[in-house]
Amino acid sequence: MRILVVGSGAREHAIAWKLSRSNRISGLFVAPGNAGTEAIATNLGDVGENVEQIVRAASDQRIDIVVVGPETPLANGIVDELESAGIAAIGPGRASARMESSKAFSKAFMERYGVPTAAFRTFDDAAELEQYLSDSTGRFVVKQSGLAAGKGVLETDDRNAMIEFGRQTIDRGDQVVVEEHLVGYEVSVFGVSDGRSHLLLPACTDYKKAGVGGSGPNTGGMGAICPVPWLDAKTWDRIVAEVVEPTYRGMSDAGLTYRGILYFGIMVTEDGPRVLEYNVRFGDPEAQVLLPLIGSDLVDLFDAMVTGSIASYAPTISNMSALAVVVAAPGYPSDYPTGLPVDTIPGFPDDEALVFHASTSRVDGTIHTGGGRCFTVVGMGQGLLNARARAYRAAKDVTFPGSWLRPDVGGRVFGN
Ligand code: AMP
Ligand code: GLY
Repeated sequence: MRILVVGSGAREHAIAWKLSRSNRISGLFVAPGNAGTEAIATNLGDVGENVEQIVRAASDQRIDIVVVGPETPLANGIVDELESAGIAAIGPGRASARMESSKAFSKAFMERYGVPTAAFRTFDDAAELEQYLSDSTGRFVVKQSGLAAGKGVLETDDRNAMIEFGRQTIDRGDQVVVEEHLVGYEVSVFGVSDGRSHLLLPACTDYKKAGVGGSGPNTGGMGAICPVPWLDAKTWDRIVAEVVEPTYRGMSDAGLTYRGILYFGIMVTEDGPRVLEYNVRFGDPEAQVLLPLIGSDLVDLFDAMVTGSIASYAPTISNMSALAVVVAAPGYPSDYPTGLPVDTIPGFPDDEALVFHASTSRVDGTIHTGGGRCFTVVGMGQGLLNARARAYRAAKDVTFPGSWLRPDVGGRVFGN
């Protein structure tokens, strides 16, 4: 099999790393890739994430399956284009990608199909939004409807800041979703579908806030664990029955099913699970903990997705735990510099730690940063504490000027 992974993040490095261990790989490409993927695959650096160029490269390279990592090319219809060119792809077409690219759309979907979610209202008029926020009491979360790289959600009690955030969003031509503020703990659940049947991978927790104990602004995710020790079997069964099954039934009814990953971002509240959001791809950094725990050949899983045989496929899952910690650029999630030279990245045996790059490049033999969340360091072990010790031991050696990490991933039960 010749596989092309689209993207340049640590999630795509993790996908490529897992594929590189397959016995069924005869060609492995990443577009555009990073300094980490160049060691295990052919980077198609010039292609970038441009849809037309990726379709051409996939055809030139006789690719069997394209795996699209990030949401933007999915929302831009890359899968529609690949499929029209006769190339199999993992991911939704543009229409189904709206489950992620429009919160207004996905909230209406949840309401229509009875999927539990926070009470909400959608606005496209700034004056109405201001009126609503001024008149109502209670805690709210304000979200921009469109894609925002994990930064389109404002959680504050400051009404003026909420109104300003909403106004700016509407001025950009987007809609605003105002939701009731939920209390609980978060889990990320991943459905794998061939368009007809689906299976579930183990639940993860993403540590979304920048600060210790879940303080500070939202980020794309500063760390992750898999599995989630405090997610009990009864809650998992409720998630499956109340969230996952109605969602797939609804997607089938609405003609939205696709061959790919559906990510359920869930808040487990005292009243049961509530969907915060859907994503139509693997999470980042969740993929970095999930993929190393899959025992099976990842090509088999992708093959089952594109050939419609998920109903008769079950991947083996390791009984170990994995913990990921992100090493970020100074200033992230606000403005941050790029092009920072990275100190030597120590090599680790795979069973000690994995270091996944994000948007790095190699200039004259030195690795330079290129994004906000620059590396994900993953430790694996028997139980969360062993995984945690390994991840942090390795992460302290992955440094560059001003680099920082959250020191408490996996350390507090509900501190995400
Ligand atoms: P989202 O992009 O919708 O998943 O939101 C990003 C993050 O904001 C979530 O992972 C939560 O930490 C937080 N969040 C979103 N919606 C809510 C809500 N209704 N109540 C509490 N926290 C929320
Ligand atoms: N970790 C959150 C996301 O991938 O959207």
